[in-house]
Amino acid sequence: MRFNTVLSTVALLCASKSLAITWEEADAKAREWVADLTNEEKITLTTGRENMQGICVGSIDPIERKGFKGICLQDGPAGVRFAKGTATSWQASINTAATFDRTLLRKVGEAQGNEFYQRGINFALGPAMGIQRAPASGRIWESFGEDPFYVAQCGLEVVKGIQSQGVVATSKHFIGNDQENNRGSSTSNIPEQALWEVYMEPFYRAVIDGETNAVMSSYNAINGTYSVQNERLLTKYLKGKLGFQGAVVSDWWSIFDVEKSFKAGMDMNMPGGKYWGPDYIGDSFWGEHIQECIDAGIFPQERLDDAALRIIRTLYKAGQMENFPDVNLYVDTLTEENIALNRKVGADSNVLLKNAEAILPIKGVNKIAVIGKDSMPTKFCEDMKCADGTLALGWGSGTTDFKYVIDPLSAVTERAKQDNIEVVSYGEDDAEGGAEAAKDADLAIVFVQADSGEEYITVEGNAGDRLNLDLWHGGNELIDAVASVNENTIVVIHAPGPVNVPFLDKVKGVIFAGMPGQETGHAIADVLFGDVNPSGHLPYTWAPREDYPTDVKYEPEYPDGGEKMTVYDYNEGLFVGYRWFDKQGIEPTFPFGYGLSYTDFQFENLEGDMEDDGLYVTLTVTNTGDVAGAAVPMIFLSFPDVVKDHPARVFKGFDKVMLQPGESKEVTIFIDNHDLSYFDVDAMEYVKPEEGKYTIYAGSNARDLPLSTSVLANGECESENEVDADIDADDNEDSADDEIEVDADIDADDNEDSADEEETDALRKRAYKLY
Ligand SMILES: *[C@@H]1O[C@H](CO)[C@@H](O)[C@H](O)[C@H]1NC(C)=O
Repeated sequence: MRFNTVLSTVALLCASKSLAITWEEADAKAREWVADLTNEEKITLTTGRENMQGICVGSIDPIERKGFKGICLQDGPAGVRFAKGTATSWQASINTAATFDRTLLRKVGEAQGNEFYQRGINFALGPAMGIQRAPASGRIWESFGEDPFYVAQCGLEVVKGIQSQGVVATSKHFIGNDQENNRGSSTSNIPEQALWEVYMEPFYRAVIDGETNAVMSSYNAINGTYSVQNERLLTKYLKGKLGFQGAVVSDWWSIFDVEKSFKAGMDMNMPGGKYWGPDYIGDSFWGEHIQECIDAGIFPQERLDDAALRIIRTLYKAGQMENFPDVNLYVDTLTEENIALNRKVGADSNVLLKNAEAILPIKGVNKIAVIGKDSMPTKFCEDMKCADGTLALGWGSGTTDFKYVIDPLSAVTERAKQDNIEVVSYGEDDAEGGAEAAKDADLAIVFVQADSGEEYITVEGNAGDRLNLDLWHGGNELIDAVASVNENTIVVIHAPGPVNVPFLDKVKGVIFAGMPGQETGHAIADVLFGDVNPSGHLPYTWAPREDYPTDVKYEPEYPDGGEKMTVYDYNEGLFVGYRWFDKQGIEPTFPFGYGLSYTDFQFENLEGDMEDDGLYVTLTVTNTGDVAGAAVPMIFLSFPDVVKDHPARVFKGFDKVMLQPGESKEVTIFIDNHDLSYFDVDAMEYVKPEEGKYTIYAGSNARDLPLSTSVLANGECESENEVDADIDADDNEDSADDEIEVDADIDADDNEDSADEEETDALRKRAYKLY
């Protein structure tokens, strides 16, 4: 990431980058630094002070004796929050995900990280890595979709990008905050295998491959125990099994007791006060109560030592203990580069859902009608709590203060001039008015929206989670009225996720544009006029609400932290998203991965090669159309039969390939051993099957997989005959295996309690003492 303003800052930045150190090195430095801290100073490090009344949404006090400047934490995934228009208002993460482009994901992380760095913000509170279980869930736009492998890949790139700039990435929310309703008084009851293979997967990648410097816990309970009190998840799994070395930060005001939360493995209480408001500055459930608990023998001194060490280790790992900029939230970082990147991601994240008679890109027309309030300038309100004008981002802590939003009407008008096309407009949602404006145009583009956000704000009756999947403001009626008078109608949808599309057969074109951030108008004009060939793909299945395995529950509000909780049973287990639709044989409206282009692609010559480090898949991708475009070949795997009750196909690989007309490229997609493993709940570890075969599918989405081949799990070659023999062998082996496993299980069960305690103890030690 380049920036033009201050050359010396560039030098400083490069220096800090090249100084990236390992966790071991950070640990050694941190131990030395914390060695002479008093308990009072250690407690200062753990307990937020300003209670969100200061300049940063979270802050840790300085320790002047040590020359320690304190810590600034700031939201959130769409850019720097509360920056009063000085920072870039990026696209929603769901848009970045829709590009299926690792290079862009990384670049967005880098650019965002740099904006936090220049402001002296230590912790960027993102990325969010939740799994989209239910399309109505309010914050789905802050994360990367429904598939654990894909969310993990996106999160990893963003974490690496942010941290490359010397800023702590705070991977969140750990774990199971997959809806807004009653998030502070609900329990996500997650079966063990799904916990690891679906919900833990993004954190696994962030910790192991991304070395995420921090993790934020969630508001909800998991299996009846609040995330912030959940020793199994925090200490045993995250710090013990995954070996996470950094600090766990609470979500805002989610800690309501010191004994259980500190003991369970929470390291930092944010924003520190008991409840919201200036009255609670310095009045914390933690603070001096930590010392009282140590004195009372509720948890040991080592727990405080561990928390303080983790916080300082995190800062050393991020390179922030020296030469870190002072906090200044209003440094201007709205650079040409950031604006261009936001526009590119916006354009590349447009998902072309329908393009009958090649109605797009716009050509051979004299007059376009642009219709709907969603084409008009955005009204700015606090945390984007009004949906008025074009929808560039959802509402809540994950949004930003915009300097400007390029509205679609202005951008389309400006671009149309180049081609001498006249633009007429109707900037309201009234059906009659829309039809009137559209009837004499050669082409009508209707802009519609649906919004969602975080639960502390209710917008048009939606308390975070959407009440339904319908378009807002009479969008369906507007589209119907326009389509009934103009046979060349195109719909552009701005929304966090799937919406009902009763108009699908009545219109020629549909683009799903998500929430593209401040350059939204330019991004859609780029695609409408064919300056950019759309290459976005859905990172989730699009279907009527009732077809999904699960939904948001709109139960009455329970008091935060109360005993009574809304129960979210994750009964679908591994079968989230497209896996459920495959299992139930339900045809979605649009499958996971769906997205059209102005050109066509052909996939051929699929081959798989199992090596020691993983599976190498190759295929040839050809642009068979007459314009340049980017293809996204997608790889799905069926696991060997020895893995029981596994989804029919799981998404495990992709690439994005730019191709000129007629051009072919051979693409190699590597799938590592972790992604070839399932989670064995008896062994409590990831296991890569050694018998049987993987079937490899390749194509353009979860329901368009024209190519398939298979490889033996043990990497040996197979001929056609051997395939048959192998299947027979497998059948026998399975039953033999089952018997042995059952026996082993019984033995294990007898000793479970003491074995469990021993394991917990070992993991606790590992969590506290590693290195
Ligand atoms: C958590 O709850 C789920 C669903 O009820 C259950 O399948 C799972 O075994 C529970 N896990 C633990 C560790 O209690």
